[in-house]
Amino acid sequence: MICRVLTSAIRRATVGRPLPDLVSALRGRNDFPTVHEAGISYAGAKRRLSSQSPTEQTLDFLTVELGYSEAIANGVVDALLKNGITPSSLFGMVKSLAGRYEVDEDGGLEALAASVEAELASLEGKKTVKMVCVPSTGWSSAPEDDDGDGLPKVHSMDRAFVVEAFEGSTLTGEYIECACAGIMGCSTCHVIISPEWFSSDGDETTKIGPPCEAELDMIDLAYETEVTSRLGCQIKLIPELDGLVVLLPAGSNNLMVSRVAGIRWKAHALSLPNAG
Ligand code: FES
Repeated sequence: MICRVLTSAIRRATVGRPLPDLVSALRGRNDFPTVHEAGISYAGAKRRLSSQSPTEQTLDFLTVELGYSEAIANGVVDALLKNGITPSSLFGMVKSLAGRYEVDEDGGLEALAASVEAELASLEGKKTVKMVCVPSTGWSSAPEDDDGDGLPKVHSMDRAFVVEAFEGSTLTGEYIECACAGIMGCSTCHVIISPEWFSSDGDETTKIGPPCEAELDMIDLAYETEVTSRLGCQIKLIPELDGLVVLLPAGSNNLMVSRVAGIRWKAHALSLPNAG
């Protein structure tokens, strides 16, 4: 019994440190804490745990209890949150995925952690590219903006927000609904490139060029198209596009705007130069 209490107290008192390291460090030592000391640690740790948010509790469970690295634990949490699991049900979900881990049974967590690990490895060394997204509610509709060039003008960026993606991914990726998974079979990923980032003569080293014929055919089916309209799934992000400003048309099913699953987005008040 004492042994169990002691083990439990040590486990809980070492939140933030991997348990296996502690166990091996203690192996061979004879200066174990007294039951009294362990009890104090246990009470302190319990208080600390009860003040943790569900996300912190989940991260502790993954790293301390199950021994996953912080990067994988964060990736697992991120993946679940992005897939609609609410923070309050996060811990329960991870526990149920872990199954009866005490007896080496798994309910799906190992596969999820393995895919997170594979994704982390594939992204290693890649730069991130920031995009400034302007929802349709942030577009200016003042009549004086209409200078006849058919392009929307951005005067207010206070509704804009920034998202980050890794170079090599597509502009929309996981942020805007892509109904056909990027095979140009729909136009749900329609976006409008802010004019200063668009190159009509096809210079794609630092800008985004015009669409090809097949893409144009799909853009024709989209709402509120402009001269700089593109399908987001067809635009590969390169480091030179860092700071790219993209307008999100009204009517697009945008996960960032609806805040349903785009957990990675960050809202910012921006003071960027006006487009056009
Ligand atoms: S996701 Fe269907 S065309 Fe881009």
